[in-house]
Amino acid sequence: MGVIYTIGNQKGGVGKTTTTLNLGAALVELGCRVLLVDLDPQGGLTISCGQEPDALDKTVYTALRRSVSGRPFVISTPFGADLLPANVDLALAEMELVGAMARERRLAAVLAPIRDDYDIVLIDSQPSLGLLTINALAVSDYLLVPVACEYLAHKAVRGLLRLVKKVQVNYNGQLKVAGLLPTMCDRRTLHAASVIEELHSTFEPEIRVYEYIVYRSIRFAESAEAAEPIIYFARNIPGADAYRELAKEIFWSLDQATG
Ligand SMILES: Nc1ncnc2c1ncn2[C@@H]1O[C@H](COP(=O)(O)OP(=O)(O)OP(=O)(O)O)[C@@H](O)[C@H]1O
Ligand SMILES: [Mg+2]
Repeated sequence: MGVIYTIGNQKGGVGKTTTTLNLGAALVELGCRVLLVDLDPQGGLTISCGQEPDALDKTVYTALRRSVSGRPFVISTPFGADLLPANVDLALAEMELVGAMARERRLAAVLAPIRDDYDIVLIDSQPSLGLLTINALAVSDYLLVPVACEYLAHKAVRGLLRLVKKVQVNYNGQLKVAGLLPTMCDRRTLHAASVIEELHSTFEPEIRVYEYIVYRSIRFAESAEAAEPIIYFARNIPGADAYRELAKEIFWSLDQATG
């Protein structure tokens, strides 16, 4: 059964979409069948996969609204992952689903019929703790939290962990926090190192802080513009290595889970 990861943090611009894309691409490189799900009306992941969101008439929103299988809405990406895309229509879902039956389980209904076509499903969530993020957590086995190495980084994480507890109690007892992934880390400053130190002392041992550190590099913005994963665009920068190492660990854990 395809394992589902949500990549989430309600803080904006911490590298959620970049992590989803590059982890996905690195898992494809290892031979995994990967489905990426864009659950952000900004459509950043869809754009990163070389698509024009507004030109798409069938998106994850269409499936969510009708509570049907996502299969007819899946498209392929140039790097070998599949994508369930999003565009600005998805912003309507948050309003439209408010009074709906089982509104927290809509994404589960969309993914249940297709998750077994994949080894892993990665959901890129939007920077909020609203209904779409709850839908993502309600269907996920794991939450992976990119955390930018900056002042007060841990504050947003606390709010997210409170939501995780609620989702565990109310909708999904399976949900686990895979770990916090330090991103946007500036090699040259002591500040970034002290933020990582603080993450360790605040959250461990309950929550793991990954040893893979995604260093800041201008190459990320360039690769986003080129709509190409960093692991291909700039293979040898340390940030690309971090995503590859993380992918290897997750790949290994999938192997263990399926025997
Ligand atoms: N390690 C990095 N070094 C430098 N720039 C980065 C790095 N990772 C991501 N970026 C850039 O930072 C910006 C924000 O990253 P990204 O879109 O992945 O964040 P996000 O958490 O998905 O944002 P949002 O909350 O708006 O969805 C993008 O322009 C991206 O190219
Ligand atoms: Mg994003």
